[in-house]
Amino acid sequence: MKPIVAGNWKMNKTVDEGVSFVNEVKNRILDKDSAEVIFCPPFTSLFSIANLLDNSPFYLGAQNVHHEIQGAYTGEVSIQMLKSLSVDYVILGHSERRTIFGESGEFVRDKINTVLNQGIKPILCIGEALDERRSGQTEKVLQKQLEQSLNGISGINGDNFLLAYEPIWAIGTGNTATEVQVAEAHAKIRSMVGNMLGKNGQNIPILYGGSVNVDNAGSLIDTNGVDGFLIGGASLDIESFCKIIELVTDNIKRG
Ligand code: 13P
Repeated sequence: MKPIVAGNWKMNKTVDEGVSFVNEVKNRILDKDSAEVIFCPPFTSLFSIANLLDNSPFYLGAQNVHHEIQGAYTGEVSIQMLKSLSVDYVILGHSERRTIFGESGEFVRDKINTVLNQGIKPILCIGEALDERRSGQTEKVLQKQLEQSLNGISGINGDNFLLAYEPIWAIGTGNTATEVQVAEAHAKIRSMVGNMLGKNGQNIPILYGGSVNVDNAGSLIDTNGVDGFLIGGASLDIESFCKIIELVTDNIKRG
């Protein structure tokens, strides 16, 4: 499986800024076969960036979607609207959506269902808060988030679904999880997914997210069970983002 480098821009970059950023990445990243690069801009930039990615090996992701197909949901965006922009992925269950916007596990589940049904790939984020880790609850929290999100959904496999382990305490804090913590969490997630989905769970990529930067990306991509990254802050900076893609690519070449 190709390693994945996804940039979650969150609420950053105007359309013009996003377009020039993506053009610059396209010019700089010459080895386009080694890693799968996914841009996840805000909704407002999806249309313009989709046009840039036509016939390119880069992919487009949205940061959210509503689970209903259409209707009276002021301010929301539907999966068919995203599909019409050739969006390949949708980030779901991000801790910022869960904590700041109160999205429940069931709500996330409904979104996953809708996205899968329309042939788009969800990137489901799970992760524990600092107090949960400190009180030894990490495994329980991850298990619960997975169970709630996947409950009753069939047909999930490594070709249509991605997971991202994003410990909340590592997001935007500079406190990256250690390689040992990441390896341990990814191994647990892999086994939980195996228990829930059997063979279909085996090839689901598990990304790491939480203060990934140019200094830690090389060792983190080398860590057992890490299939790529979901990057926030460092995906906004052209030098950092391209350097991380190169580090991931170099890692594959080293084998
Ligand atoms: P940072 O890389 O800024 O810590 O953000 C991670 C994240 O939340 C990606 O979805």
